[in-house]
Amino acid sequence: MAANLRSILHVLCESDLSSKLPTAVMGVDVRFLDATKPVPADIDILLADIDLKNPVSVEKIRAFRNVAKPDSQIFITVDKGDRQHQRQASALGARKTILKPLSEIGLAIVIEELRTPHRFATNTTKSIIAASARAMREIFEQAAQKEPIDINLIGETGQQLAESVADLGVLDWLDTVRIYHHSTFQHVLLVTGIACAFAQGVGMSSQDIAKLTQAGLLHDIGKIWTPSPILDKTGKLTAEEFAVVKRHPKDGYQRLVNQGDIHPDILDAVLHHHEYLDGSGYPDGLLAHEIKDLTRVLTICDIMGALLEKRPYKEPFSVQEALSVLFSMANQGKVERALVVALAQMFDCEISSFQSPKRDLFDSRNELSPIAT
Ligand SMILES: [Fe+2]
Ligand SMILES: [Fe+2]
Repeated sequence: MAANLRSILHVLCESDLSSKLPTAVMGVDVRFLDATKPVPADIDILLADIDLKNPVSVEKIRAFRNVAKPDSQIFITVDKGDRQHQRQASALGARKTILKPLSEIGLAIVIEELRTPHRFATNTTKSIIAASARAMREIFEQAAQKEPIDINLIGETGQQLAESVADLGVLDWLDTVRIYHHSTFQHVLLVTGIACAFAQGVGMSSQDIAKLTQAGLLHDIGKIWTPSPILDKTGKLTAEEFAVVKRHPKDGYQRLVNQGDIHPDILDAVLHHHEYLDGSGYPDGLLAHEIKDLTRVLTICDIMGALLEKRPYKEPFSVQEALSVLFSMANQGKVERALVVALAQMFDCEISSFQSPKRDLFDSRNELSPIAT
């Protein structure tokens, strides 16, 4: 949406700055909301000048986001250089952060941002993501009903996703998926988006980008045979239940082999995306030299995607926390450190800043069960 004369910029301002700010900027009306009340759901453009350390204020933005129109826009103010609050703002759905203290310049930056073509890219991206989610539902249903899987649909979906990730940037792309697609396919879309961005970032060939993207879309197709009470279980898995979960790479691989016409590198990535370099993964307990490059990349993108997601048994990790987990796994010899470094660079994170993760490395459901991906 390009801001026009009919657009109103609503500002949620918790400080007394509102009295010093103008009521119109660049032809757009500025209205100040009552900070003691919830944000109305029908607002198109919200600029939140709130204290991100205050859970009540944060909840107010989250509540708005949950009821807001799909194309509404959120901007949040943060202190200069405060990366933690920048990430928090991003997780709350902010299109862009504006520097505190809020001023007329900050209001003008919001209007300028809305008038840039970027917004059209976001609209396009949203429809591509929605179409991809529908395509994946179709593919999973075909697999479940033993119908032929539409390989062309996988190829086209992968190509569109790769283009939209490149267009929007991985962080905005992931936020769009997380905000609008709380479905079974969120994981698949997140992993594929991360894989696309990684492949583009390290300069892979277009053939490898296509293979990795399609492997991302198909990697967990075997989970259609994993009962949902096990997949969504919040408590500890029994050894028997974990054995059922561990079947999904082979089940998916076998289904795709039966289908035919799928590149061997994609099949290998589907079969071995849970293998670790030290032999502790499954289903074959492969060692480093037996795990192909494309599969190694998919594995770290899969773990990253799983950590960034909200699951029935965990809140989403921040990008920083998720990368800390991957660095810890690299230190244990499970995943390739050079790939994790490249992933961190792709997310624009300082390599030196990674400490041991604060949250448990392993899925709390089962000590036998490394992060369920
Ligand atoms: Fe996965
Ligand atoms: Fe998996």
